[in-house]
Amino acid sequence: MIKGTVTATGAAAASASMSGRQRLLSAARREPVDVTPVWFMRQAGRSLPEYRALRERHDFLTVAKTPELAAEATLMPVDRLGVDGAVLFADIMLPLDGMGVPFDIRPGVGPVIADPIRTAADVVRLRIVDAEEGTPYVLEALRFLKLELGERAALLGFSGAPFTLACYLVEGRSSREYPKTKAMLYGAPDLWHRLMETLTEVVIRYLRGQIAAGADAVQLFDSWLGLLDRATYETHVLPYTARIFAALRGLAPTIHFSTGTVALLDAIALAGSDLVSVDWRLPLDEAWVRLGASQGIQGNLDPTLLFAPDHVVAAATRGILRHAGGRRGHVFNLGHGILPETDPETLRRVVDLVHTESGTAP
Ligand code: CP3
Repeated sequence: MIKGTVTATGAAAASASMSGRQRLLSAARREPVDVTPVWFMRQAGRSLPEYRALRERHDFLTVAKTPELAAEATLMPVDRLGVDGAVLFADIMLPLDGMGVPFDIRPGVGPVIADPIRTAADVVRLRIVDAEEGTPYVLEALRFLKLELGERAALLGFSGAPFTLACYLVEGRSSREYPKTKAMLYGAPDLWHRLMETLTEVVIRYLRGQIAAGADAVQLFDSWLGLLDRATYETHVLPYTARIFAALRGLAPTIHFSTGTVALLDAIALAGSDLVSVDWRLPLDEAWVRLGASQGIQGNLDPTLLFAPDHVVAAATRGILRHAGGRRGHVFNLGHGILPETDPETLRRVVDLVHTESGTAP
């Protein structure tokens, strides 16, 4: 138990002058906030007993594709943890539905594509459709959530980034090194660029659709970016993510997530998102220097640190707030998603601590 949490929570509630939604969106725009906003990647998932109960009744894709169930899962962590962001319960793979690529998500394995995309003929067959046509259930869930959430929390939409989607499309499943994907990138650059063009167009339509349906901000998940060296990132990936953020500018704040990308951070800043989500491998203040002072930042607690004793979690949380130093444009999060074995009580205490102690930052 973090000492003083109970009284401090009361104090935070009393001094809080912004709604969760306002707080998160203000930070994303690098405007002043009352206290630091916080949410967690994978907050709607297996760490919550109520989610596991839902999953006993329905499989993963049924929950993700049924607006009422997706909305129910989205709201679970908002109610339980008091986070300032509600991330839509979905998966990065869903846009593949509209592209005409059948896939499955297997527990413990992840996405599996029976017929991976490997040739020019495969790429040509990929369909480019609007979100309304390809994934109407995602938009319906967002419309419902928008009404349901009110000001409680910012509604966060998301998509896989073209590179990370390409990793799954080409490889066919999760992999450590993504050798087939990188073989295409290095060995068949024309084909690679055609695939990235297609995915970029799909992602732009998908995220614009989500914003029109009520998403307050959107996050682009580029989970496997850490596989790339800087020069390859700049030539084979950055132009496409930059195009996505440019296409969304003025519509809603954007967040660019990746992990294992210490070597790429200054190049990632060039992609042009409002916030860059960083992992724990660099202290937040150092990451911020690499990104540039004018960049907003999200992060960066190590998700495995949540398995440590409470006083260690509290010290690490305070350390991140200290590194942020009360500067504008910080959204507290983990450096990657919550692991399923995480105790939700620990998460709730981190939320309380962030809200309580950030208000007094210099
Ligand atoms: O953050 C949230 O709470 C919103 C929901 C969300 C899910 N997936 C739900 C989910 C989000 C944002 C994602 C994104 C996602 N999906 C990413 C990018 C984020 C990251 O972690 O880097 C990736 C790489 C995927 C692909 C994927 N989907 C994987 C690797 C898995 C896990 C497979 C397993 O069983 O270990 C999934 C399935 C998945 N997506 C689950 C959840 C809650 C677990 C499915 C279940 O309930 O059994």
